[in-house]
Amino acid sequence: MKVNGKHYRSLWWDESTNAVAIIDQRWLPHEFRIQSVTTMQEFADAIVEMRVRGAPLIGATAAYGMALAMKLDPSDKHLDEAWHYLDKTRPTAINLRWALNRCKAHLSPLPEADRAAAALALAHEIADEDVEINRRIGENGLAIIREIAAKKPKGEPVRILTHCNAGWLATVDWGTATSPMYHAYNEGIPLHVWVDETRPRNQGAITAWELGSHGVEHKYIVDNAGGHLMQHGLVDMVIVGTDRTTRRGDVCNKIGTYLKALAAHDNGVPFYVALPSPTIDWTVDDGVAEIPIEERNAFETTHVQGQTEAGDIGTVQVTPMGTEGGNPAFDVTPNRLVTGLITERGVCEATPEGLAALFPDLSKTD
Ligand code: MRU
Repeated sequence: MKVNGKHYRSLWWDESTNAVAIIDQRWLPHEFRIQSVTTMQEFADAIVEMRVRGAPLIGATAAYGMALAMKLDPSDKHLDEAWHYLDKTRPTAINLRWALNRCKAHLSPLPEADRAAAALALAHEIADEDVEINRRIGENGLAIIREIAAKKPKGEPVRILTHCNAGWLATVDWGTATSPMYHAYNEGIPLHVWVDETRPRNQGAITAWELGSHGVEHKYIVDNAGGHLMQHGLVDMVIVGTDRTTRRGDVCNKIGTYLKALAAHDNGVPFYVALPSPTIDWTVDDGVAEIPIEERNAFETTHVQGQTEAGDIGTVQVTPMGTEGGNPAFDVTPNRLVTGLITERGVCEATPEGLAALFPDLSKTD
């Protein structure tokens, strides 16, 4: 996507430094800062501190982390250690483990002397694949938006609600939930996007920044507004991303997604999930019972970061001194509340049969 007219991916290989460059998302939407990641510690910190975030981007970052590990020491022991070191950075998004497993499976059989080059090539491949997957999700989601647009009076926007940032910045490019929006906008379909703020970290602000940079009309709303808007007929569809989707189609995504799905169900609003195949956990059925939910530092709930009128970025406390916060970062939306899963291979029902029919090659886990 473009920032001030220049195309960026959210992470890339910088030939001039021979290192991975990331956009440090902690400063967005106020400052656009690029960071070079050159040590294993920096890779882990980038994920833990959410300099990079969003399930597909976490996966791609981990793959580059494995590439650095193999450059430092290509032994079996170090391959294993790097896998464990990166795997413990964040627990919920399955893309992290998916990327680490793919790297390990690819590198283990190779002679040590070949591993560094092979690991870097694989990291590039994973990043490129992510871009292509999301582009296709965009095309498949576009077909749904077109259908909704066709039923509206000419010129009236399709009103889409989204939660968190499942955008370009959460992936390597395009985004998942935002990709159909960008495709629809590029085709000239009038759109209006309701952007949930997504407390506590307000990822909605970076979604708003992305949409604004692309020219997509949107409004930033508090997390509790969605139900009201749906009751008043102001939302045509919901599209969200996912951090892990189970074999039967339960969807784990940023905290608050479940409440949006309930409100959508109650109001007959279609609720779609943009799902790249690396986000499917074929080993898990019941998302509520089986997916580990990250509990983040309560500081994120008791404090809010923002920019002052003077232009400084700072943090203020919103709670009384001594009040404890609780910070579960994700929740699970049961498959019965999901209208459809928009994948790179097409749109399917959120059912075991729906997913298995689109991904017969991946759904066999034994
Ligand atoms: O905690 P985050 O910001 O990493 O959570 C991100 C989300 O919940 C996204 O919706 C999800 O990763 C899908 S990204 C395409």
